[in-house]
Amino acid sequence: MSKSVNVAIIGSGVVGSAFISQLKNLKTSVAFNVVYLARSSKEALFSKDYQPVDLATYKTATAQPVLSLDALTTYLTAASRPTILIDNTSNSTLADYYPKFVSAGISIATPNKKAFSSDLKTWDAIFKASAAPGGGLVYHEATVGAGLPILGPLRDLVTTGDKVDKIEGIFSGTLSYIFNEFSTTEESKVKFSDVVTVAKNLGYTEPDPRDDLNGLDVARKVTILARLSGFEVESPTSFPVESLIPKALESVESADDFLAQLPNYDADIQKVKDEALAEGKVLRFVGSVDFKANKVSVGIGKYAFDHPFAALKGSDNVVSIKTERYPNPLIIQGAGAGAEVTAHGVLADAIKIAERIAN
Ligand SMILES: NC(=O)c1ccc[n+]([C@@H]2O[C@H](COP(=O)([O-])OP(=O)(O)OC[C@H]3O[C@@H](n4cnc5c(N)ncnc54)[C@H](OP(=O)(O)O)[C@@H]3O)[C@@H](O)[C@H]2O)c1
Repeated sequence: MSKSVNVAIIGSGVVGSAFISQLKNLKTSVAFNVVYLARSSKEALFSKDYQPVDLATYKTATAQPVLSLDALTTYLTAASRPTILIDNTSNSTLADYYPKFVSAGISIATPNKKAFSSDLKTWDAIFKASAAPGGGLVYHEATVGAGLPILGPLRDLVTTGDKVDKIEGIFSGTLSYIFNEFSTTEESKVKFSDVVTVAKNLGYTEPDPRDDLNGLDVARKVTILARLSGFEVESPTSFPVESLIPKALESVESADDFLAQLPNYDADIQKVKDEALAEGKVLRFVGSVDFKANKVSVGIGKYAFDHPFAALKGSDNVVSIKTERYPNPLIIQGAGAGAEVTAHGVLADAIKIAERIAN
């Protein structure tokens, strides 16, 4: 008989649905037995005797109210097979519960950044529980750069004794698009506020673009990269994060009002762009972890026309990892958002876990 694992899937939104459809077509030596599927924060599919949930009909099948997190832990740990929990939400209550899941022997694969980028205590609690005898495994590749292989290679370098010198990258698809359009190698009169409005109309931004422009999402990703490479970052607000929101517009009520007033501030950022261009450089919104300077930061940087960051296209992400072994930095680049690539990152993590724990 082939080896198998139980799987509990939480969330069937953009990433969750793509994950379920990739899982449905999966061909691996380990069988994935989905015993719990919370298709929303209210409804879940599961049975007392752990019968596999039918992934072909999960959208319409009769559901039950979701289990509380304590009841879910009891349900999953009473099964005869080991379990992988897939958190495809951005829920922080669920994320705060990870140490309990992991202590109970449940493994986790997730694109949810919350647990890994909040306070350092939570990070420590998760990985201490994972390292303890009987602790579950925790993989979260898709929390930075979606499906791009960033965290796995970085972890491999660090655990085999390499020393990180500097990590620098463009980690927001939205801000990548905005700066790639706004600041090019040729002189342009493209206005910052116009690019932000176009990005919103294309669906690239959050409903309120200020949730992208405040830099916090990038700060969360940089927190994860810093911690993984051995830089103890207390929280994503414990280092300098440059916000692209003009001070006076922070408290403006609605997103529409914000966009209507943003053109009043175009001249400020245009000046920075023109100065960069005169130096043969473009502007990019980057996060960096600099071990030599003992500094973690997020903000606008200037890059020469021949730098890989200057050649970025569309909404791609890019990361440059400079280490003792790679003095010429390792560059990883590609789509840093999107349902299919994010879901593949989560599923690849689940397969890695399954290969280690299945029985
Ligand atoms: N989309 C991307 O390109 C991308 C890229 C990288 C990483 N990510 C990460 O992937 C995760 C999912 O993103 P998404 O775009 O798929 O979000 P989404 O479309 O908003 O889906 C989230 C889903 O989770 C459900 N949910 C929330 N809390 C829950 C709970 N306590 N129990 C059960 N279900 C719950 C929601 O159901 P309700 O409607 O009932 O709340 C919704 O179905 C996020 O952490 C995001 O940051 C996404």
